[in-house]
Amino acid sequence: MSNAKKLLVLISGKGSNLQALIDSITSDKLNAEIVAVISNRADAFGLERAALANIPAYIIDHHHYETRESFDQSMIDVIDRYHPDLLILAGFMRILSPLFVERYLGQLVNIHPSLLPHYRGLNTHQRALSDKVSQHGASVHFVTPELDAGAVLIHGIVTVKSKDTETCLENRVHQVEHIIYPKAIKLLINHHIILDNNRIIFDDKRLVKPKQYYLK
Ligand code: GRF
Repeated sequence: MSNAKKLLVLISGKGSNLQALIDSITSDKLNAEIVAVISNRADAFGLERAALANIPAYIIDHHHYETRESFDQSMIDVIDRYHPDLLILAGFMRILSPLFVERYLGQLVNIHPSLLPHYRGLNTHQRALSDKVSQHGASVHFVTPELDAGAVLIHGIVTVKSKDTETCLENRVHQVEHIIYPKAIKLLINHHIILDNNRIIFDDKRLVKPKQYYLK
């Protein structure tokens, strides 16, 4: 494990994506170590997952800070103790300040429940259903100061069925998320990937189109 990359994961809730990463590491599919988890909510179930996996976890409650910047600074203070290679947002429900995003630009990734650039923001499943799209899914993308606008590394695609309710669609999107997040982290670990002006340079060539994974 000595050359394992260090990941630090930020969560706010259930932490099923955190679990997918933990599982990929424990089954040796991902040569990485989760060095710490930070949650902005004390009741996040993901904290229990971190405890079970013996990962140090920190609760930094945004309610205790007067400004977004002071909250972010307090996360920075914890993060920089660990020197992580990658910072992973996994259901972290706070908008990060430019101070934070710019500090970790190129190392900071998120998973969003839509095929970006479609459906940035909230209620993505409901919006996809009301537009009657045939494909929906999730995206792993770099985080940039503009919300959900960073370059996409991988799309996890699900077919929308005519009988789909928001809940069934959400479940399938979650399923694909748990596959593509470990895959994306593996790509980041095993390849030379940099973010240049919000473009992904993958092994010295521009990644013209996000990689695609179709849920069967
Ligand atoms: C996921 O749907 C992810 O796309 C979004 O927040 C949700 C987190 O779920 N950013 P979990 O906490 O990982 O279960």
